[in-house]
Amino acid sequence: MKEKLRACAAQIDEALAAVTCGEDLKQFHARFLGKGGVITALMKELGSYPKEERPAVGQMINSFKEEVLARFKAMESEVALREMQAKYERESVDITMPGVAHSVGALHPTSLIRAKLCEVFAGMGFRIYEGREIEDDYHNFTALNTPKDHPARDKQDTFYIEDDVMLRTHTSPGQIHCLETMKPPFKVVMPGKVFRCDDDATHAPMFHQIEGLVIDRHVTLCDLQGLLDTLAKAMFTDDTKTRFRPSYFPFTEPSVEVDVSCCECGGTGEGCRLCKGTGWIEILGGGVVNRRVIANCGLDPDEWTGLAFGAGLDRIGMLKYGINNIHLLYDGDKSVLRQFKK
Ligand code: PHE
Repeated sequence: MKEKLRACAAQIDEALAAVTCGEDLKQFHARFLGKGGVITALMKELGSYPKEERPAVGQMINSFKEEVLARFKAMESEVALREMQAKYERESVDITMPGVAHSVGALHPTSLIRAKLCEVFAGMGFRIYEGREIEDDYHNFTALNTPKDHPARDKQDTFYIEDDVMLRTHTSPGQIHCLETMKPPFKVVMPGKVFRCDDDATHAPMFHQIEGLVIDRHVTLCDLQGLLDTLAKAMFTDDTKTRFRPSYFPFTEPSVEVDVSCCECGGTGEGCRLCKGTGWIEILGGGVVNRRVIANCGLDPDEWTGLAFGAGLDRIGMLKYGINNIHLLYDGDKSVLRQFKK
């Protein structure tokens, strides 16, 4: 038995020296210490020894086994340590390396204008309502007293989806939805996207408007004037002036176009390219809601009156921030947008 154990010890030395990883250790354990292993096999040979020799031989094998087990355990912790070190080396972090900068976005200028206007109107008790971008002929035109031969219905301006279905050309159909569903009196503003088949430095096929509608008893043009004056001062500066010019919209009567004193030259107009020397810049259209629109929506125009206005959000943003081409707002050029970071 001694001989056998010596031979086995030599095999063990060799096998242990070759162990490099957990998998090798497992194999080592199975080969020498496991149920089907070499040492168990030696134990089984015990039966072939004469009875009186068995205790001594058995003891010899047992202490040999313990010794091997101890060496196995030591190797086990060494391998664990080695594997951990290798892992640390593999995953080491160079803490002196410069970090990866994440770019932080900014609100789009049109979003800034929209938020500001909604805030101003909410402060005056207006509700905020978002209409729909796809409208039917009735809401976009007919109910707004826009007769069939009106140029706004021209196929060149309007993106039609079907004969009577289109991308809204303005936010004014929101007026009809409000009149149909809200109980007067009410005040509401409706910001949103609008679409027209138009494309040059100051027009894009998609742009943004904000619609305002007040329905109450005894609303007059003076109320509109006061309201829009507040709006202009909030958007530009406290000394901004407003000017009303007569205009025409089928859905308001009388209709006005509203100018603000030029934010570039302060209203003097002298050599100013922005207002082309006039001192004034047009920012929106509005008026007293046409009696026919009120009647179209089932309200009594002798009892209920209203005022409405529609302003271009992109246009206000361009004026406020000195942007001369509307496409700068939509090309997604980060160097433009970056300038609006707070
Ligand atoms: N909808 C008109 C436009 O797009 C603006 C407007 C709105 C005019 C409300 C009067 C009243 O030009």
